[in-house]
Parts: sequence; structure tokens; C-alpha cells
Amino acid sequence: MITYRLLLVGFGAVGQGLAQLLRDHGDQLAQRYGAALRLVAVCTRSRGSLYHADGLDPAVLLDAMLRTGHLRDLPGQTSLAILDLIERQAADVLVEASPTDLATGEPATSYIRAAIARRMHAVTANKGPVALHFAELRRAAATMSVYFGFEGAVMSGTPALRLALSDLAGCEIIELRGIVNGTTNYILTQMEQGHDYAAALAEAQRLGYAEADPAGDVDGHDAAAKALILANVLMDADLNLSDVERTGITGVTREMVAEASVAGDRWKLLAHIRREGRRVRASVAPACLSVGHPLAGVGGVTNALTVTTDLLGDVTMIGPGAGGVATGFALLSDILALHRGQA
Ligand SMILES: NC(=O)c1ccc[n+]([C@@H]2O[C@H](COP(=O)([O-])OP(=O)(O)OC[C@H]3O[C@@H](n4cnc5c(N)ncnc54)[C@H](OP(=O)(O)O)[C@@H]3O)[C@@H](O)[C@H]2O)c1
Repeated sequence: MITYRLLLVGFGAVGQGLAQLLRDHGDQLAQRYGAALRLVAVCTRSRGSLYHADGLDPAVLLDAMLRTGHLRDLPGQTSLAILDLIERQAADVLVEASPTDLATGEPATSYIRAAIARRMHAVTANKGPVALHFAELRRAAATMSVYFGFEGAVMSGTPALRLALSDLAGCEIIELRGIVNGTTNYILTQMEQGHDYAAALAEAQRLGYAEADPAGDVDGHDAAAKALILANVLMDADLNLSDVERTGITGVTREMVAEASVAGDRWKLLAHIRREGRRVRASVAPACLSVGHPLAGVGGVTNALTVTTDLLGDVTMIGPGAGGVATGFALLSDILALHRGQA
């Protein structure tokens, strides 16, 4: 049995999703895989932070969040700075689930950098550090012989990155086409049912799929960051966010969607990454797909990725692209991938 002490940064939807998995499946994971996952620290911005070397009970943490919305009344060491915990190697794995900042990648990037420098493994669900600093962080992790995992950064717990990186190894990836933003796919699916854009967006906001300021989704910023990650991680590109051509869905009208439906076609916001000569190009734009296309039938908040390879042709993955537990699972799958490499 190998014990992994986990330092969890962020206890929102994703952090709590992981805690639910540890609460409900921790014993079984230990038995089945020989990996004991011990949460030793949980840190938030404003809801309190806790550390206990012997471990914190995920059930108690979740219960406190449910009852009080914070962790401040629980026993344990509470006046903590994340960088101090990292500095004194209080954990084996940094599990990073703080909010995404696509302008700076912070605070996540600083935490991950510090963890790797202290020979801690790092896993994150956060697009920021991967979109902005992938090459640097991968190099640093290799230098320090630690694991750097970020499966949740694209398509949440659906193993798009790992499947393409590990299980399609030996194939050349020629092209990637994906529905990687569930909010816009939900809006377009609603528009197929006759709603106009404004009504579909309002419904997405009511259900919590879209933010009050929906620009990050509907203008394609979120999808562009994921396209960038797919290009740099899976196709060895060296692109920046500004290299990704980006058009959102605000120009797609109910009439365009209705007209396409008559012909059996469907509008999707597609991330498209392809080789053009020696260059890799990445774009995000609405595309009208014929009904037989593998991505045309993917509706609602579901995500999908078609990987075009030289040896297998097209391989398509369809699955959840968001959700606390689904993304908590992405973090868990990274920790188990780390464990497979150690065991
Ligand atoms: N939710 C999803 O479906 C999903 C899917 C894929 C990827 N992700 C990514 O996963 C990450 C977490 O998402 P989430 O939905 O769990 O977000 P969330 O619900 O907003 O939770 C964020 C957590 O991070 C804490 N935090 C904020 N600033 C911090 C700082 N400077 N240092 C330490 N902790 C800080 C927050 O504390 P306070 O509550 O005190 O502010 C909160 O506990 C994001 O990067 C997101 O993009 C989420």
C-alpha cells in the first residue's frame, strides 16, 4: 500500500466533488489499487483552511460546508499559507482546484511551480496554468521527476487527454475536432428546439450552466483555451492563446439553426486543431455539421472530441465536460495515473 498525502487547494464544486469520491470510494480504492489517499490539507480563499498531519475526514469537511458554508469551526491547524505547506512538504501531491484565470494563470501556477520545485507531484483541473505555462511546467516536472497531471482541464473527467496521449501512442494525430464547451452546446441545442439565442442563454443561466456574464463561454474564450491545450499537449504545438482564431456563438441566429435543421444539419461550436504543413493551427468557430458527422448528435452540455489518426482513422470520445464530481474524478484519475507509475 502506498499512502499519498493530498494538499487540496480550492474546496468549491470540484474540490468537494473529489472529497465526495474520497468519502464514498476511498476504502475501495485502497483495496483495489493499493493507493491510500489521505487528505491532509484543504485550503480556500475565504471559507477557512485546515491541516492535520494524520488526515482530515472528507465526510466531516463536506458536512461542515453543507451546514455552515465554511470550514472555520472544525478542529485542526487553521492559520495556514499554502506556500508554507508546500515549502515544508506537508503533502506528497498538490491537488489544485482554484478558479481559472486565463490572463495570468494565477494563483494556480505559483502553487504548482512551488510544489514541483519541492518535489511534490501536482494535479490540477485548472485550464490557466496548462494553457499559459504547459511547456515550462512539463519541463520542471520532468527535471524534478514528479508527475504533473491536468486531465480535468479539457472535458472534465472524460479522459480525452489521457486516452489520446497514452492509449493512442503509436498513432500520429492529424486533426482534432471537439465540442469542448458544454454551455454553448446547450444553448445551440435549445435553439434547435425553436428558442432564440437570448431565451436559450437565459435558460442556461437559470440552470447554472452559464455565468451571469456569459462572455467566457459564448465568445469562445473557454473553448479557445481548451483548443490551445489540445494543440500543445496532443500535437506538440507551441501556440499562445492569441494564436487561436476565435469566433463565439453570438452570431448564430434561430433562423440559421432552423434552416440547417431542414437540411438535417446542426450548428456546433467546434474547436478545430489541424496540421497545415509544419504548422499546427487551432481555431474555435461555429460550424454547420451534417447529421451523419460523429459530433452532430452530441446535444446539451455533453462534450465530445474526435481524434483523427493515421493508423486508426477517427476515434471519438463523448462524455461529461463539467460538474463537481465529474471534474473531481479527473483529479482522482490523475492521482491514480501517478500511482500506476509508482506502483
Ligand atoms: N466546475 C466544473 O464543472 C469544472 C470543470 C472543469 C474544470 N474546472 C476548473 O476547476 C477549478 C475549480 O472549479 P470550481 O467549479 O470548483 O470553482 P469554485 O466552485 O469557484 O471553487 C473555487 C475554490 O477555490 C478557492 N479559491 C479562490 N481563490 C483562491 C486562492 N487564491 N487560493 C486558494 N484557493 C482559492 C475558493 O475559495 P472561496 O470559496 O473562499 O473563494 C473555492 O474554494 C477551476 O479552475 C475550474 O475552471 C471546473
